Amino acid sequence: NAPDGTFYRFPLRLVHGVPLMKPIADDWQKVESFQARPDDLLIATYPKAGTTWMQEIVDLVVNEGDLEKVKRAPTHIRFPFLEICSPPPIPSGIDILEETPSPRIIKTHLAYKLVPKSFWDQNCKVIYIARNAKDNAVSYYYFDLMNKTQPDPGPWEKYVDTFLKGDVGWGSWFDHVIDWWKAKDKHRILYMFYEDMKEDPKREIRKVMDFLGKNLSENILEKIYQHTSFQAMKDNPMANYTSFPSSILDHSCSPFMRKGEVGDWVNHFSETQNEVFDAKYKRRMEGTDLNFRYSI
Ligand code: A3P
Repeated sequence: NAPDGTFYRFPLRLVHGVPLMKPIADDWQKVESFQARPDDLLIATYPKAGTTWMQEIVDLVVNEGDLEKVKRAPTHIRFPFLEICSPPPIPSGIDILEETPSPRIIKTHLAYKLVPKSFWDQNCKVIYIARNAKDNAVSYYYFDLMNKTQPDPGPWEKYVDTFLKGDVGWGSWFDHVIDWWKAKDKHRILYMFYEDMKEDPKREIRKVMDFLGKNLSENILEKIYQHTSFQAMKDNPMANYTSFPSSILDHSCSPFMRKGEVGDWVNHFSETQNEVFDAKYKRRMEGTDLNFRYSI
């Protein structure tokens, strides 16, 4: 536990079949009944798929490349985290959102089926980012090591199995990416891929601009591209999570801005792990037209 006794590695509790950290599950009613507003923008991801990167891009697009404005506060203050909940006196994401003036840009890691219904009633726009399962698993493993509120990941040898079973915060990667993929045909959802963003960041930033109805100059696009590179964000205290209390995020275990690459999984998966992973992957992804790239 932290010295003030507030934080510890929270156990997971099922909410409609999805494991969530206990404080979130305990206060679930509040999330479920959240009232979205029509001009809310939701940035939705499975944890470690590129949330922070997209948040920085969106903030710059909305603020038309104003670098000073996006330095006004750290990521977690600029974008309230819908479902996050800690023991009092720390305000929950919902408490903060209720006080936040419109237009709000909201972060969530919720599975599609858990998103409060009001977002769909209000026809809100959503940007979803998905990342290939193997890199996502590696990134999540390091995050579980450094984030002292997440369940202990245990040894890497066992973690791959834990991840495949969906026995981690926010549940199964498969359910998450597949259900959001299906949802994109019903709602205003821009479905993006981390690998595409790495391959051609400007092309992907343009997609975000179009989706948000922002027609920005090449000059501004270039600024956004520069400011949201991995290195620029790693060096930016307003984007690299170093301002977060170190009793929760311990960057000495693993920095939040860790590697930012496609294909780092090859440095972690053993041959056997890879075979087990591929077999399960094939079964779970059968019948979807959702495809991921494991190298670029
Ligand atoms: P790695 O652990 O593989 O380095 P999230 O923001 O959803 O928690 O995702 C974090 C992951 O995105 C980390 O991956 C982090 O390094 C990576 N990331 C953050 N900013 C990035 C950027 N500008 N370019 C590429 N990757 C980035």
